[in-house]
Amino acid sequence: MAMPVLVDTAMLQKTPAEPKPTRLVTDLDLSTGAIERLLELAGRMKRTPLRYAQSLAGRYLALLFEKPSLRTRLTFELAIKQLGGDAVNYAGHINGREPVKDVARNLDRWTQGIVARVFSHTTIEELAAWTHIPVINALSDLYHPCQILADIQTLEEHYGRLEGLKLAFIGDGNNVAHSLMLTAGRLGVHVAVATPAGYEPNAAIAEQASKAGRITITHDPAEALAGAHAVYTDVWTSMGQESESAVRLAAFQPYQVDAAMFAQARPDAIFMHCLPAHRGEEVTEEVIESPRSVVFDQAENRLHAQKALLLTLLSS
Ligand code: CP
Ligand code: NVA
Repeated sequence: MAMPVLVDTAMLQKTPAEPKPTRLVTDLDLSTGAIERLLELAGRMKRTPLRYAQSLAGRYLALLFEKPSLRTRLTFELAIKQLGGDAVNYAGHINGREPVKDVARNLDRWTQGIVARVFSHTTIEELAAWTHIPVINALSDLYHPCQILADIQTLEEHYGRLEGLKLAFIGDGNNVAHSLMLTAGRLGVHVAVATPAGYEPNAAIAEQASKAGRITITHDPAEALAGAHAVYTDVWTSMGQESESAVRLAAFQPYQVDAAMFAQARPDAIFMHCLPAHRGEEVTEEVIESPRSVVFDQAENRLHAQKALLLTLLSS
């Protein structure tokens, strides 16, 4: 009978010089080595979940969500519970009643970790600055690192490798695009982002990503799609940008991933989307429902990748 896993030795550092990750506020908080080990662990946790059923016994996390969520919130709650821990939830503005630094120092006394979805990235930076416990970014206006851990797990499962793949991201240069550039780019995936003028990724993040990986930023979807193994898109109006939605709807129309656009990638390319999807906007029903769509594999892997993340950050 397989022994339950409390501390997974395969997760421990191969190079003693590299410190154990302590947080995931931006993608760069995980080194490439840490991400590779996390992917390996996520695969093992997916295959043999019961071995890890007591790994976080007695650990309590706070889930703070300023914005709506289906996948992130439920998969974190499930992940924590399936690892033997528990979670408490708070929905609403984190600084609604008191300063973020006070919220942070309360949670620091009660819990062993914070998972936070915030409007402004500075809120999560502040939570991390005022606590000693791991803080996990469950989406901010700038990054969505947990999504991308599941995405690279999905890509690797599909292709058996990451190095040498090309991923075309078509649409808004948003939080998901930023994290794809930073995480997938560092693991050897050529990330090609095609956006309308004025909606390019944040220039400082693009520069950071370009230092560590192969990144293309263009206004021409055809350039991004040529030779792509995966075509990824996301909503045109992210949470918090609702007042811009009419302008965005018009600006992004030529960037809809329909069958003709999908056909410009490799013939066996997969379609990816973090969800929720707006059919008839960034993607057509035909493409998202096609046999080459892996959107529910991505959604499933949110659970496994986040379990691996929790164990990486919280195991002593
Ligand atoms: N992909 C994603 O983060 O989904 P939710 O907004 O439902 O959490
Ligand atoms: N870019 C989207 C992602 C949702 C998971 C948003 O921020 O709303």
